Amino acid sequence: MKGKPVVDPVYMTATYKFDRSDDLIDVVQNRSGYIYSRWDNPSVKAVETELAGLEGYASAVGFGSGMAAITTAIMAHVKAGDRIVSTQEIYGGTYELLHDTLPAYHVDTAMINCGDLERLLAEIDKGLTLLYLETPTNPLLRVVDVKTLADAAHAKGAVVLLDSTFASPVNQHPVDLGVDVVIHSATKYLGGHHDVTAGFVCCNEPYFKKIWNLRKVLGGVMDPMSAFMTLRGMRTLELRILKHNENAMQIARFLETPDKVTSVHYPGLASHPDHAIARKQMSGFGGMLSFEINGDFDQTKRFMDQLGIIKLATSLGGVTSLANQPITNTHVALSPENRAKAGVSESLVRLSVGIEDVEDLIGDLYQALKAV
Ligand SMILES: Cc1ncc(COP(=O)(O)O)c(C=O)c1O
Repeated sequence: MKGKPVVDPVYMTATYKFDRSDDLIDVVQNRSGYIYSRWDNPSVKAVETELAGLEGYASAVGFGSGMAAITTAIMAHVKAGDRIVSTQEIYGGTYELLHDTLPAYHVDTAMINCGDLERLLAEIDKGLTLLYLETPTNPLLRVVDVKTLADAAHAKGAVVLLDSTFASPVNQHPVDLGVDVVIHSATKYLGGHHDVTAGFVCCNEPYFKKIWNLRKVLGGVMDPMSAFMTLRGMRTLELRILKHNENAMQIARFLETPDKVTSVHYPGLASHPDHAIARKQMSGFGGMLSFEINGDFDQTKRFMDQLGIIKLATSLGGVTSLANQPITNTHVALSPENRAKAGVSESLVRLSVGIEDVEDLIGDLYQALKAV
């Protein structure tokens, strides 16, 4: 038949057939093809190849969620008795993993305020197996000096992992900062439309083999449909991110003015504590911001309930603007003390700025602030 599909099909298959036993044996021994979709699948492979190229690494490994990517990437590199250094201001699920789950397996974790570079360097100096970073952070958009910390960790022989979800591959290029393993929750900007749950790591050898092998063992593999949807989302990644960046900057500037907002956290603002490092480390400031309402928990809730175009929902990174109160969902698992350490107050609102008309978004925020 003449004419070939412009778009590859979704390979909805769990297993693969062979004409000869020798071919099957070759695939098992040399990974020269496909044998079983918990190992590899052509649809998953297609999106892995695309993302690895974007991030500048030899390989990527696709997962069923961002958390599957994070747990597998970390567990591939630590064993009982090892030590991880990380920051307090990381995604709530990752915080639980480092703070609660891994210590139960006798992996020690030191979680330091990300603004305290000296303390972080001192903890690294004590010795570590793995440095785990996330920047910009969730929900306060702190920007961590990756190169300085990665260099210090490498000097101690550690592997450096970075969750680059908030930046996306468009706004930050971790390979240039010395990161060994980059992680993305593809549920966010890579998918981009709030309709996929998926995750990735990008890395070179020797990290790839370890992570790929543990994905096979733990089984948190990406499914072919999610791979197809993520690749489709990635076709417009750069266009979307540029619009997210532009909208978020305008909204951050707007939020600096009303007296119903006491502070705005956006790395693109000169008032942000990490503005200088963000300018150096990032090529765009991203679509995420957070701000404090001048009121208590109930008044902040009233503001949330008043939003119209901006949807009250958890998650982020898609075309539709979403707002949440981190204290009620993303950071609910943290004790009040640890929440305070992470800077998550009862009046904090996190906003994932979408790609809608920015005037409409500002109008929505304006009318909701009036209700406070
Ligand atoms: C920065 C960051 N990393 C990882 C995750 C986890 O991703 P997933 O929900 O796809 O498991 C999230 C989820 O919100 C996140 O914000």
